[in-house]
Amino acid sequence: MDRPLLLRALAGEPLPRPPVWFMRQAGRYMPVYRELRQKVSFLDLCADGDLCAEVTLQPLRRFPFDAGIVFSDILLPLDTMGLGLSFGKGMGPRLSNPVRSAADVAALKSFDPVRDCPAPLQALRILDEAADVPILGFAGAPFTMACYAVEGGGSKDWIETKKLMWRDPAAFQRLLDTLADAVGDHLQAQVEAGAKAVQLFDTWAGALSVDDLRRWALPAAARALSRVKGAPTLYFTRDSGPFLPWLHEAGSDAIGLDWRVDMAHARGILGPDVPVQGNLDPIALYAGHDELVARTNAICRAAGPRGHVFNLGHGITPATPMDAVDTVIAAVRAFRHDGVEAAG
Ligand code: CP3
Repeated sequence: MDRPLLLRALAGEPLPRPPVWFMRQAGRYMPVYRELRQKVSFLDLCADGDLCAEVTLQPLRRFPFDAGIVFSDILLPLDTMGLGLSFGKGMGPRLSNPVRSAADVAALKSFDPVRDCPAPLQALRILDEAADVPILGFAGAPFTMACYAVEGGGSKDWIETKKLMWRDPAAFQRLLDTLADAVGDHLQAQVEAGAKAVQLFDTWAGALSVDDLRRWALPAAARALSRVKGAPTLYFTRDSGPFLPWLHEAGSDAIGLDWRVDMAHARGILGPDVPVQGNLDPIALYAGHDELVARTNAICRAAGPRGHVFNLGHGITPATPMDAVDTVIAAVRAFRHDGVEAAG
């Protein structure tokens, strides 16, 4: 088998067209997923390695994606560390036992991915045989995990998180270090189970100023990624634009871009040797066919032939029409960079 396009793109090789996969490509926009979720809760699904493998395969059977991402959730480790994770109907995640003090940080249980989070590892071992395309593993970045751990759920302002960060920096640092080691071990266990690349999601790093990003989030991400050997790493934030000159401090092999940043501008700042992933607005999938194709082609063209993985700039939304997914994938697969030989 030829080396998969995903790995060639992440290695910075020139390719006639980029590989394509979507964040959250397994999920509610697919009727087969919704049908399964009638029968099993989200957390029960995440705890069952066979079902996680099955759900990972759902979009790969329906669409010609060049990669998959193992079905799981970034918040699972927080549950086993003692924080009490639940998902209320339409309410998003809740942690019943949030971390608000140095004593709470000290009371966190240790996290061993093999003991505490075996389902995604089992799914990856199944997928290593069952999937025709490379499967990515993932984890939440330490800062984003800390946001949920401290706040006890989602937030607009992350006030409790920033309060702990500034009022008790030693405790917050200890929390980030603990989480960094946990998610780093989690990523490495996924690589050992068959993940061909891993992505660190720093969804909420955009709540920080550049100074705080560099003081807290990026060193913690780098600490986590330093534990990963044997597979390329991606670092994604939802608000990459203002942070471009500093994102390399996370120490990842590639950078995931959200949809607000201009692709050519981002590549100019990051430099030609840093592979990038992105960055179609997930809401563009609700635009008409021609608009969607034009936007898809524009991103491919602006990214250039070296080191680009096509993706959305954030997760696909549940009401996305499936024919729009067909349209984007077909446009990427038909795209050709001028003057690049050797098909993929
Ligand atoms: O990309 C994939 O297909 C892999 C699966 C995946 C899920 N969550 C499945 C999921 C991944 C990579 C995640 C990561 C994740 N989870 C992040 C970071 C990525 C991002 O979107 O920025 C965050 C912040 C979470 C926490 C989380 N889990 C939230 C905020 C929610 C939404 C709650 C809701 O009610 O919509 C979840 C639930 C979740 N994780 C779903 C899926 C498919 C929806 C569950 C369902 O109702 O079936």
